[in-house]
Amino acid sequence: MNATDAVHPMWLPAGATAHLAGRTVAVVGEAPLADTVRGEVRSAGAVSEGTPDVVLGTATALEAAGITAPSAPEAAESFAIGRRDGVTVVSARDAAGLLYGWFALVRLGAAALDDALVDTPHSPAHAVRMLDHWDNVDRHEVMGQIERGYAGDSIFFANGRVRDELSRVAEYARLLASIGVNRVAVNNVNVHRREARLLTDDLDELARIAAVFRPWGIRLHLSVTFASPILLGGLDTSDPLDARVASWWAEATHRVYATIPDFGGYLVKADSEGQPGPFAYGRTHADGANLLARALAPHGGMVHWRAFVYNHHQDWRDRRTDRARAAYDHFTPLDGLFDDNVVVQIKYGPMDFQTREPVSPLFSGLNRTRQALELQVTQEYTGHQLHAVYLGVQWAEILRFRPFGDAGPALGSLVRGGLAAVSNVGDDVFWTGHPLAQANLYAYGRLAWDPDADPLAILDEWIGLTFGTDETVRATIHEILDDSWRVYESYTAPLGVGFMVRPGSHYGPDVDGYEYTPWGTYHFADRDGIGVDRSVATGTGFAGQYPEPWRTAYERPETTPDELLLFFHHVPYGHRLHDGTTVIQHIYDTRFAGLAAVERKRDAWAAIAGRVPEAVFARVSERLDEQLRSAREWRDQLNSYFLRKSGVPDAKGRTIY
Ligand code: GCU
Repeated sequence: MNATDAVHPMWLPAGATAHLAGRTVAVVGEAPLADTVRGEVRSAGAVSEGTPDVVLGTATALEAAGITAPSAPEAAESFAIGRRDGVTVVSARDAAGLLYGWFALVRLGAAALDDALVDTPHSPAHAVRMLDHWDNVDRHEVMGQIERGYAGDSIFFANGRVRDELSRVAEYARLLASIGVNRVAVNNVNVHRREARLLTDDLDELARIAAVFRPWGIRLHLSVTFASPILLGGLDTSDPLDARVASWWAEATHRVYATIPDFGGYLVKADSEGQPGPFAYGRTHADGANLLARALAPHGGMVHWRAFVYNHHQDWRDRRTDRARAAYDHFTPLDGLFDDNVVVQIKYGPMDFQTREPVSPLFSGLNRTRQALELQVTQEYTGHQLHAVYLGVQWAEILRFRPFGDAGPALGSLVRGGLAAVSNVGDDVFWTGHPLAQANLYAYGRLAWDPDADPLAILDEWIGLTFGTDETVRATIHEILDDSWRVYESYTAPLGVGFMVRPGSHYGPDVDGYEYTPWGTYHFADRDGIGVDRSVATGTGFAGQYPEPWRTAYERPETTPDELLLFFHHVPYGHRLHDGTTVIQHIYDTRFAGLAAVERKRDAWAAIAGRVPEAVFARVSERLDEQLRSAREWRDQLNSYFLRKSGVPDAKGRTIY
């Protein structure tokens, strides 16, 4: 970006703290992050002298000062807010809770100072709320600097090393703290040669990033390559059961902690899409993960070990091999074998961050293993931050899914290892390319804190903070974003079949783009029907990886939810959905409806010209135009493809090419 361009403040513009300006805010106690909160108080234009309007402190500090306060929940990072004798009191369990309590006051707006404020406890559902950056130090030939990044270059790295100037990182850390994110992995899970050396050669530089994160309660994590002992240590092996390998990792990790005492841990993509791993030595992923876990354990660090392991050299002729099965088949035999500080990080679906997939059966398959749910904030398969797609609605649906049926827990509470998500941020002036994609980052943090939260209420909160109180603007952004995920689904790949994107970039339609490739992502459309038979009776058996009630539900087309029909079944074009529409007519209807919806959204935005900052207006307008163009391309390519394959005309006689 151009150094003279003002960076957009995302959801923390000056106006977000206007209700606190001129108020007296006292921060009691000397907790480590209390100074951060004092800095916030000052920049909000609040004062510390005089009779307080607001008091914040840890429960212990408040008690020592004789201040009555609502009781803070026991869990780490918790806080409670309430009113006592005309004063708003935030009582925090610990220093991090103090910081989160401050930002809760910001979110509340004027209500934070109202006598009607009732005591409310807040505690995070998960201790680990992480963002993964797929940033490279160097530019990558094909991907650019950030793998699947749609918002410019890395805010951490430039010119082959950690940036000298980290003010952008400091702003980012503040924004993340305000939504409760407490861990950040700074580099890509595909660890290339230069990035492998971060672990050894760049520790002092990484320590500078960690120092910027620290006042905001964020710990730095690093993606490492499993081949590090060979690449960096000069060993001839990285066999996890070789004692030399174990001691290399122990020493390397010791040096990391000597430089970054609060280092969070390692993130590992092993035996996946060409990354090295334990399979090369005939070892299991438990052997591999435990190797690193044991190096980290003495220092309190953890391993995020990704379950995204599958054969990416599949023969498309082979109908029995099913990529969707892979993670479960690899990892369930290892349940109970992972050390306590290993978290197996599982993508929400069994394939790869599609617009619609069933929740991965691995979550119910591992009962004695800590699991993290991995989401993708960056819009790899959902329009590259050129399309306005609010993912909070999708994530809430995933988090509310009950892997064991109604009587069991929701996924959002089942994952004891917390949440992780691929960030959508770069050095773009709006941080996220599409200004409305900021809502996704915001929603991720808020849902990681409270998976039961209503995604549309979160969106509303984000709109209020970012755009202020103009009700027309509020209504318009709701109109654009509330149903945007389903609208995107309606003009792209139908009924859970996935992909149909251009290979490589994953942007725009290409119905057969992946059909005859080694990637295992097929739709099997022919003249009679479409979809992947994953039933136990006649298909790949994937449906059988689920416990009841899902295994039975997914086994037959009649009991499979329509939106997942083609994920689980190959059906004729004339197959009727639950509302009586045939699959082929549904494809036509929803493609037409999807494009029409995008048109309405673009017009709605055009009507608020002058009510939002000019630069935001222009950027969003430009992207809505591209979304409309792209949606039209999707509609016409899909409709033409299916008309030509099936020979079934549109019942409504619309133009199909
Ligand atoms: C997808 C994505 C890759 C990424 C991979 C992963 O396949 O296209 O760019 O590396 O996921 O999650 O590891």
